[in-house]
Amino acid sequence: MGPTFPSTDIFAPPPTDITAAHEPQREGRMTQSQRLQNKTALVTGASRGIGRGIALRLAQDGALVVVHYATNEAAAEETVALIEKRGGRAFSVRARLGRPGAEESLFATMESELEERCGNAALNILVNNAARTGFDGARPDEVTEEALDQCYLVNAKSPFLLAQRALVRMPAGGRIINMSSGMTRSAFPSQISYAMSKGAMEQITLHLAAHVAPREITVNTVAPGVTNNGDPVFDDPESLAAMSNLSAFKRVGEPSDIADIVAFIASDESRWITGSFIDASGGTLLGTKI
Ligand SMILES: NC(=O)c1ccc[n+]([C@@H]2O[C@H](COP(=O)([O-])OP(=O)(O)OC[C@H]3O[C@@H](n4cnc5c(N)ncnc54)[C@H](OP(=O)(O)O)[C@@H]3O)[C@@H](O)[C@H]2O)c1
Repeated sequence: MGPTFPSTDIFAPPPTDITAAHEPQREGRMTQSQRLQNKTALVTGASRGIGRGIALRLAQDGALVVVHYATNEAAAEETVALIEKRGGRAFSVRARLGRPGAEESLFATMESELEERCGNAALNILVNNAARTGFDGARPDEVTEEALDQCYLVNAKSPFLLAQRALVRMPAGGRIINMSSGMTRSAFPSQISYAMSKGAMEQITLHLAAHVAPREITVNTVAPGVTNNGDPVFDDPESLAAMSNLSAFKRVGEPSDIADIVAFIASDESRWITGSFIDASGGTLLGTKI
């Protein structure tokens, strides 16, 4: 007798709205145990958006989280307060990445605070999340040299310098997680400078992963698709519908969708994954048209 198949068409669209079906599931999920207890994590750009989601999630798993920000101190303190309200541990550090000496100064401030709180300054997890994301929407023939330089400084050079600095003391089992974008795999001509800088960042993952594997440290790239970072564009129904349509699941991502993936990569459970590009785009890169 041959294999049996479900009587319904498994390729048919679902009977209910996927977004609605998704929400209760997420809310009802069991929380992970404190799998990052005694770990420290630096999340750059954690004042808002995806970075805030990642900071909250890693703190929920027990890590002491360093909430880095560039300009928005109030938002960064709000992230810290949210973590503490949920029983987690966090403190904020300011640094305008891409400026000379910024990465060194971030580490100096962070390490003295870690020393005070933990008795040592080792960093276990670095999430390179901060980015110049304000899309200028410039066509390739309109991209300015200055815009290109800014993208490279913040999105590629700075994550490398932070990783280099973190590795000085990172213990075995450490994690470097580079936040890239689906735009390195799908063409958006008006975002060419951003995509070029993220492509460069992905090279950090590839080459550092091989370099630090003997120390049992992993380096991976997580690449979100369109994710609601609180920008007003997500409140516009027409734009939201167009953005939702890009994903195979027909909705935009939420910071928690990305944070759950980062939390797995940050945990010991991901120890056999390194040098990987993890597509966190909700199937956007499948290119589904219907
Ligand atoms: N949202 C998406 O649809 C999407 C899609 C694909 C990939 N991603 C990637 O996911 C990550 C987070 O994106 P997001 O949309 O959540 O970002 P966002 O809301 O624009 O937040 C950016 C964060 O980076 C910080 N930042 C910006 N420039 C900085 C600089 N020069 N120095 C230091 N910090 C700086 C900001 O700090 P202040 O607020 O304090 O200035 C803020 O915390 C980025 O790497 C982005 O490329 C996002």
